[in-house]
Amino acid sequence: MFADRVLSGMRPTGRMHIGHYHGALKNWLRLQEEYECLYFAADWHALTTHYETPERIEESVWEMFIDWLAVGINPARSTIFIQSRILEHAELTLLLGMIAPVGWLERVPTYKDQQEKLSDRDLANYGFLGYPVMQAADILIYRANMVPVGEDQVSHLELVRELARRFNYIYGREPGFEDKAKAAIKKLGSRRAKRYEALRTAFQEQGDEAALQAARDMLDEAQNLALGDRERLFGYLEGSRRMILPEPQPLLTDTPKVPGIDGQKMSKSYGNAIYLREDAASVTQKIRTMQTDPARVHRSDPGTPEKCPVWPLHQIYSDQVRQAWVQRGCTTAGIGCLECKQPLIDAVIAEQQPIHERAQKYLDDPSLVRAIVADGCERARKLAEETMRDVREAMGLAYS
Ligand code: TRP
Ligand code: SF4
Repeated sequence: MFADRVLSGMRPTGRMHIGHYHGALKNWLRLQEEYECLYFAADWHALTTHYETPERIEESVWEMFIDWLAVGINPARSTIFIQSRILEHAELTLLLGMIAPVGWLERVPTYKDQQEKLSDRDLANYGFLGYPVMQAADILIYRANMVPVGEDQVSHLELVRELARRFNYIYGREPGFEDKAKAAIKKLGSRRAKRYEALRTAFQEQGDEAALQAARDMLDEAQNLALGDRERLFGYLEGSRRMILPEPQPLLTDTPKVPGIDGQKMSKSYGNAIYLREDAASVTQKIRTMQTDPARVHRSDPGTPEKCPVWPLHQIYSDQVRQAWVQRGCTTAGIGCLECKQPLIDAVIAEQQPIHERAQKYLDDPSLVRAIVADGCERARKLAEETMRDVREAMGLAYS
């Protein structure tokens, strides 16, 4: 409906590790080459579960941003900002809360899961239950249509889409909508107006999804439309409502699972992570002491790479030839584990070299990061304000 826009957020957990890099950041880098991107530190989200330990948030945010910049997130292409600096997120969270059925929130799978997993904490809180509403506000406030997330976030995205639909259904009602929509069609010009009508009919009468998409594409390209008309034409395609908040799509890229040095999922809280800005000696030591296939007690015991946490790292860092070398060497006891790990150590260190170099500038002068983020916050705020004007108006709060 609007230009393609990517948005994603990460909770500030401090320094990024190679799991973040291969699981998310590389994807973000790719997306910034093609789209307008917004990436933010979800500091309020951190408080929904860690409300008792606020002291680490700020430091974690800056560490995280240094790593984003160090891997190549380019502030000229991507807007990077802090959630809590854009108060409009809170306003939209509050307003979406009015139409968010409690039952929907209780049914989000992560709600019960997390309560069980984080059993040392009391999560029977309003803020924690409302987490997905806040996530909806984060996304909808930028009218982002693409949201790169992991598998675990798909149910949240589904809820975001349902909330957007519900919002448009309730607040997109407009007196004289039909007439206004028809007038907007005329403004498309006669050739495009005809095509719009035909595609709309094909969708409404035959449920032709391709026609719906074609019509949306056509509207995307129609540059001369006022925002209100654009919303009406998008809404009119599907029904009789303006589309004030477009529904976002999750961008699921299949990213490798990166095991930590103990074979569990890599995570700071498990103490098994290899950080992006880790010195070479420490990387070497961590990989050398990394667990291997428990069946390989002696050098002469053959092993099975699929049972070894080192193998998934080879799948990320090694080419086919070296992977074949690992397979053969491991299963025939032709190579030792340290021998197997050495090329991996070299590859991780080589990958980190440019990251260290780019980070240095920001470590030497932290005001650079502050300035980039201040600029990003300002850009984000402008976009958020635009949406909020429409939202307030639709909800009867314009007070003009
Ligand atoms: N919920 C996400 C997580 O815990 C972080 C997040 C918050 C997010 N708001 C978002 C991700 C909006 C994508 C879009 O990982
Ligand atoms: Fe793992 Fe490599 Fe040792 Fe096989 S040889 S057990 S893949 S470290």
